[in-house]
Amino acid sequence: ERTLILDLSPNDVGKEVFFRARIHHLRKMSAHLVFFVLRQQTATVQGVLHEHGHISPHFLYWAEHLDAEAVVLVKGVVQEPKAKDGVIKGTTIHHVEISIHELHVESKVTTPLPFSVAEAEVTKAETEQEGDTRVRVSDRTRLSNRIIDLRSTTSQSIFRIQSGLCNLFRSYLDTQGFIEIHTPKLQGGATESGASVFKLDYFGRPAFLAQSPQLAKQMCISADFGRVYEIGAVFRAENSNTHRHLTEYTGLDIEMQIDEHYHEVLNTLDRTFKHIFAGIYERYRHELDVVKRQFPHTDLVWLDKTLRLPFAEAIRLLNESGWRDDDGNPLPENEDMGTRDEIQLGKVIKEKYNTDYYIIDKFPVSARPFYTMPDPDNSEVTNSFDIFLRGQEILSGGQRIHDADMLVQNMEKLKMDPKTLEEYIQGFEWGAPPHGGGGIGLERMLMLLLNLGDIRHGTLFHRDPRSLPA
Ligand code: ATP
Ligand code: AMO
Repeated sequence: ERTLILDLSPNDVGKEVFFRARIHHLRKMSAHLVFFVLRQQTATVQGVLHEHGHISPHFLYWAEHLDAEAVVLVKGVVQEPKAKDGVIKGTTIHHVEISIHELHVESKVTTPLPFSVAEAEVTKAETEQEGDTRVRVSDRTRLSNRIIDLRSTTSQSIFRIQSGLCNLFRSYLDTQGFIEIHTPKLQGGATESGASVFKLDYFGRPAFLAQSPQLAKQMCISADFGRVYEIGAVFRAENSNTHRHLTEYTGLDIEMQIDEHYHEVLNTLDRTFKHIFAGIYERYRHELDVVKRQFPHTDLVWLDKTLRLPFAEAIRLLNESGWRDDDGNPLPENEDMGTRDEIQLGKVIKEKYNTDYYIIDKFPVSARPFYTMPDPDNSEVTNSFDIFLRGQEILSGGQRIHDADMLVQNMEKLKMDPKTLEEYIQGFEWGAPPHGGGGIGLERMLMLLLNLGDIRHGTLFHRDPRSLPA
């Protein structure tokens, strides 16, 4: 039975333990004493190697020259920390320490590390403290040596939460009559709009990487699957070098039939989000605490009855707050907002309604894709919506046009060639029920949930316009 560092509690004092860990950090205190910080994934604990019995001076000399990041097997006994303030800073488990009796190296570090994980874990708050001379490893260095950065307790926690997020999405929809689908990422025609797709050579013919499962998930509705979801790769050939854009991200997409009203889609999405939030705050307390040391933030605030504002009203709120565009004019009601406008709106809404999570719907026709259903009562706007977290968009969606003629007319208006989407349109010609759906960007949502500041911290091996490792 191997011990998990994370499970250690004061009740274990006196117990013998055996486990594999990495050497996170080590410090020679004297000829008789070496301190270790031992790390397993999201947890670190202090280990003390003290000269006594079969721990010889020779062995101590060997141990103090071990490298950080070596994989070791540790045998020892759990004890109360001998000196409370002697526990090395940043150690996640600080109510106990391990008195080390045996130490074996299972795997050595054979190439010098660009930085140690312990260095990467140094927080901003720590370096701002007087007397702390440590320097922070830059984001750039961390992200370009991703494997080492991923070993940090912070990254380990982020990706456990990411996994939980997908799991909560999936498990909730499974109880709501949805089935999980897997749609092709290789496309013969450009999807949605031609501008932002990656083109590739498909046996001498042009092909494209899917920029959304949009068309395929709607085709599943035409094919009578009723309610579907997908967790899959989405490719965007956008040359956007921002904190929130990737060229490949993970989409959490749903599509469902509508019985009466597009609010059914919104309600389903809203309940899905609340299930995810509640699940994360319930199951991932330790991981959240670890992430908060590097990326300080407060837990999300959301309302029992989610705030829903029509787009025009959101613009009015912004304009009333004194917000102006770059030319000093109030924002128009028929144009989409930019990122800065969205962030400002988030602030205004937080102030007025005390929520970090809200829905904006009824977007103007001009701001939405060709497949979006217009509002039957107002042809200027659509039955579409975005969902926001801490002032930034995490989901886009809406009701879709299920009438083939209307869809073709719309495409022609936008100078799109219906021939390129023949199979998709045929589905509607053969009859399809009213339907709608939405898509979440996984890494975007994680970034906003955990205040990571940059989407790359929530992406295992990021792809952006500048980086594509060989
Ligand atoms: P000790 O008998 O506690 O090992 P020592 O007089 O032999 O102390 P060193 O072995 O050189 O001295 O220890 C250096 C310092 O580390 C001392 O100030 C000691 O109190 C402290 N120390 C020893 N063990 C621990 C521990 N488990 N946690 C924190 N500090 C410790
Ligand atoms: P949209 O293009 O708005 O909508 O994308 C949906 C969500 O995906 C995320 N996202 C991104 N994340 C990282 N990098 C990017 N470059 C990126 N672009 C988008 C955002 C966004 O809210 N077909 C529609 C969805 C639908 O209507 O069902 C679509 O793809 O979180």
